[in-house]
Amino acid sequence: MTIRPERIVLLGANGMLGSEIRCLCANNNLTALDLPQFDITDTNQLEKAVENADVVINCAAYTNVEKAASESEQAFKVNAEAVGNLAQLARKNNIYVIHISTDFVFDGEKKTPYLETDKTNPINIYGKSKLEGETLLAKNHNNFAIIRVQWTYGKNGANFITKLVSPAKQKDVLKVVDDQFGSPTSTQEAAKAIVELAAKRPQGIFHYAAAGFASRYDAAKFAFEKLKLNTKILPCKSDEFPTAAKRPLNSRFCCDKIQALLDKPIEEWQRPLERFLETI
Ligand SMILES: NC(=O)c1ccc[n+]([C@@H]2O[C@H](COP(=O)([O-])OP(=O)(O)OC[C@H]3O[C@@H](n4cnc5c(N)ncnc54)[C@H](OP(=O)(O)O)[C@@H]3O)[C@@H](O)[C@H]2O)c1
Repeated sequence: MTIRPERIVLLGANGMLGSEIRCLCANNNLTALDLPQFDITDTNQLEKAVENADVVINCAAYTNVEKAASESEQAFKVNAEAVGNLAQLARKNNIYVIHISTDFVFDGEKKTPYLETDKTNPINIYGKSKLEGETLLAKNHNNFAIIRVQWTYGKNGANFITKLVSPAKQKDVLKVVDDQFGSPTSTQEAAKAIVELAAKRPQGIFHYAAAGFASRYDAAKFAFEKLKLNTKILPCKSDEFPTAAKRPLNSRFCCDKIQALLDKPIEEWQRPLERFLETI
């Protein structure tokens, strides 16, 4: 008997995280889909896309945290409604789903790292839409893993590391908040964990982040030192930067649950970040 390779369908394949998963799975039986050819909110397209899949990895998302309040309809369509439709199709076709979610499902008030079982309480529209996606997936399917990630950076997308480094090149002084905590997490490393889980098919919610933690100010200091930038960084508080969307102050994750399934220990945040900085 020959065992056919698993057919994996990757949604959001051109995004910052999706593109890393696509690279890792390049030799597998992978169908990579994204806008503009594929729209997850088009139920007919979604049905066709997943009908022959064994595994669907969903990285497609409305990710503009700041604009989500003024474009809430689209945020909920992509991050919630479409995930509910995916769940129903997956149940009908017996497909294992890995769905990517976020620390923004929490309010950030907890003083210690968030567990998968902690109470959710999103504080902005993006977080609300992502939580609704998690809820609809769990309500409509029973063969899935939700992997929440936080503070991700990678080569194929705007992220807080590149957003810090670009203005620094033109400024002598840059203010960076020192009251938001998380773990700068490489999408390349997150992609490896996601692909490993796709093969192991665990069920439930998992938190993934680099080991250790830092404030945004700590992370900026580390990056600027490695890049030998002369810009002076001044610590400040989130209140000084009013934004359209509130952000959780604590984005730290406890990753014991996912770590128990992974072949290798998750690296401390500094090492992958150093490797990334060498490439920009
Ligand atoms: N970046 C972070 O710090 C972070 C933190 C926590 C969680 N996450 C989660 O990680 C996952 C991956 O995000 P990412 O960082 O890779 O963001 P990203 O670069 O914005 O990737 C999302 C991808 O989804 C696509 N997409 C948007 N609307 C779509 C639609 N209607 N149909 C099909 N595809 C659509 C986007 O295409 P366009 O670019 O053309 O819109 C993009 O290629 C998301 O679930 C996100 O919520 C990210």
